[in-house]
Amino acid sequence: MIRTQDVKRSYRRWAPVYDIVFGKLFAHPRREAAEAAARVGGRLLEVGVGTGIALTAYAPSLSIVGIDVSREMLARARLRVASLGLAHVEDLIEMDAQDLAFPDGSFDVVMAQYVVNTVPDPDAALDEFARVLRPGGEIILVNRVGAAAGPRRAVERGLQPIVERLGWRSEFPFERFERWLGRQPSLRLVERRAMPPFGHFALLRFTRIDPS
Ligand SMILES: C[S@@+](CC[C@H](N)C(=O)[O-])C[C@H]1O[C@@H](n2cnc3c(N)ncnc32)[C@H](O)[C@@H]1O
Repeated sequence: MIRTQDVKRSYRRWAPVYDIVFGKLFAHPRREAAEAAARVGGRLLEVGVGTGIALTAYAPSLSIVGIDVSREMLARARLRVASLGLAHVEDLIEMDAQDLAFPDGSFDVVMAQYVVNTVPDPDAALDEFARVLRPGGEIILVNRVGAAAGPRRAVERGLQPIVERLGWRSEFPFERFERWLGRQPSLRLVERRAMPPFGHFALLRFTRIDPS
């Protein structure tokens, strides 16, 4: 089982080198996610904002609130915002994705890139994303999507106990999202697109239906 204390410990170590390791590797999905967010516009919550590596990709017309459980990752994000003068960043707050301190419907976009499979209870986090999203808004995720079956699934399962100690899940089949969606009658999946490297990740977009 992933524990928040392990996630914090892991990202305390990652913080100084995170951008060097994951900067270029995930640049393309980050650009695609930012473009999808720009099409919605308005106020964006970036969950697991980390070092703020995605912040420069967002349209300056968006207003961004970033949250993260790791103080060390957030400290890097704050430095980035200050040094680059990123005026579209409204706030950066230490907060748990599974317990968001925002009112219902307070964001036009909820973004989480490489985050959902690092939280102890992904369903609780996804429920919170849906709660703080306004009707007509979008949840945009870039996430690990594991194999549904076959040898790749077996490898991912085998690696699970090892990567779990790093606060990560190798195994994360799409059916987990489908099961969650089944409990969210106001949400619809609008896009699922494979992302590099090797299609091991996906860009997922969900919209919240306006009941009126
Ligand atoms: C793989 S990094 C992704 C960072 C950034 N989103 C990116 O695109 O590079 C995962 C981030 O999620 C944060 N995180 C993990 N669990 C969290 C939780 N329960 N609540 C908020 N942030 C969390 C970690 O501290 C870390 O900064």
